[in-house]
Amino acid sequence: MAFKSTLGKLPRTLGAGSASRLALPQTRSFATPVPPVTQDATGSKGPTAMVFLNMGGPSKTDEVGDFLSRLFSDGDLIPLGRLQSYIGPLLATRRTPKIVKQYSDIGGGSPIRKWSEYQNAEMCKILDKISPETAPHKPYVAFRYANPLTEEMYAKLLEDGFGNGKGGRAVAFTQYPQYSCSTTGSSLNELWKWRHRMEGKTNEENPAGSIAWSVIDRWPVHHGLVEAFAQNIEAKLAEYPPERRNDVVLLFSAHSLPMSIVNRGDPYPAEVAATVYAVMQRLKFSNPYRLCWQSQVGPSAWLGPQTSDTVQNYVAKGQKDLVLIPIAFTSDHIETLYELDLEVIHESGSPETVKRAESLNGSPVFIEALADIAKTHLASGVACSAQMGLRCPGCKSERCAESKRFFAGQQEFI
Ligand code: FES
Repeated sequence: MAFKSTLGKLPRTLGAGSASRLALPQTRSFATPVPPVTQDATGSKGPTAMVFLNMGGPSKTDEVGDFLSRLFSDGDLIPLGRLQSYIGPLLATRRTPKIVKQYSDIGGGSPIRKWSEYQNAEMCKILDKISPETAPHKPYVAFRYANPLTEEMYAKLLEDGFGNGKGGRAVAFTQYPQYSCSTTGSSLNELWKWRHRMEGKTNEENPAGSIAWSVIDRWPVHHGLVEAFAQNIEAKLAEYPPERRNDVVLLFSAHSLPMSIVNRGDPYPAEVAATVYAVMQRLKFSNPYRLCWQSQVGPSAWLGPQTSDTVQNYVAKGQKDLVLIPIAFTSDHIETLYELDLEVIHESGSPETVKRAESLNGSPVFIEALADIAKTHLASGVACSAQMGLRCPGCKSERCAESKRFFAGQQEFI
């Protein structure tokens, strides 16, 4: 999702999506030829590339400018109309100094790359044991707006002996548990674009020996995900005195969406709500709770209520025991470390009693869940879910149509 702090004030031009025009280098880097990947496989179907998709974040402050420029140029995320490729970089330039300061305040960069690489490496170790037929599993990360970018990941796949005539199997595993066309959809559109640029030499969609892709597109109520959230909530509730514990209000917070995207038919709000309800079921509805939405920016209408308003309103009503739970992201990032911790909690006027549950980060329960989701997917033999094939009722993007058609068409190759 877009960062509140990242986005700042947007012009009132949110309209139908237009294609982003990223001026990204088409670097291709090929290592010395290696044997076909299928020859060295431990399992009968391996090796398997496990590619984590996420938005990413700048690991260092000097990466902030490029990160923002890519983010504002993405019409799937921030539809700015026909002038997107012009307005996007301008907005990014204007925002950069403020965002650099925010990343400095959380330690000089986003931890999302560190956590993504760790989570994927640990998941692959488990997968090698529980899914030996598709082993070895090799971890890759593809970020939409930060390094390693999708094209960098794809070049690494090719270097490692996947594709380009050598075949091989890869899984695009979104790290957004709940699907939105502005997040997972955008990452898949980008993957589809680079697949064609880097493997489509003959103008064929599936040249001989190209990588066979499948997609894990959503997992909002997986039992392991729910358990990992529930355990972090229970740990935070344990910090309150027993006599107050059951009256603490749980505030699940997810990144908001412009209503133009919600009304287009985006599945995200319903899937976030499904996660919240599943976590509350696991907690046996021990506490009162609400779902609220953070990071709204600009003059257009966004899905509410806003997290910051919700906290301030409850505190004003005398409800000062609140636990914020980031429910739509799988590791810490600027919206937890800066927006929730340094802004919302600090400005609540009650930082002793307004707390935040830990992000999933290195949770072993969460990493086991990732492995279980991946194993189930690999065993299913399904390229992508039926739900992924359905476009939003208001979608007018040809890129969405082509990308979905491509991934559904991978069924005959996996
Ligand atoms: Fe949802 Fe295109 S915007 S499928």
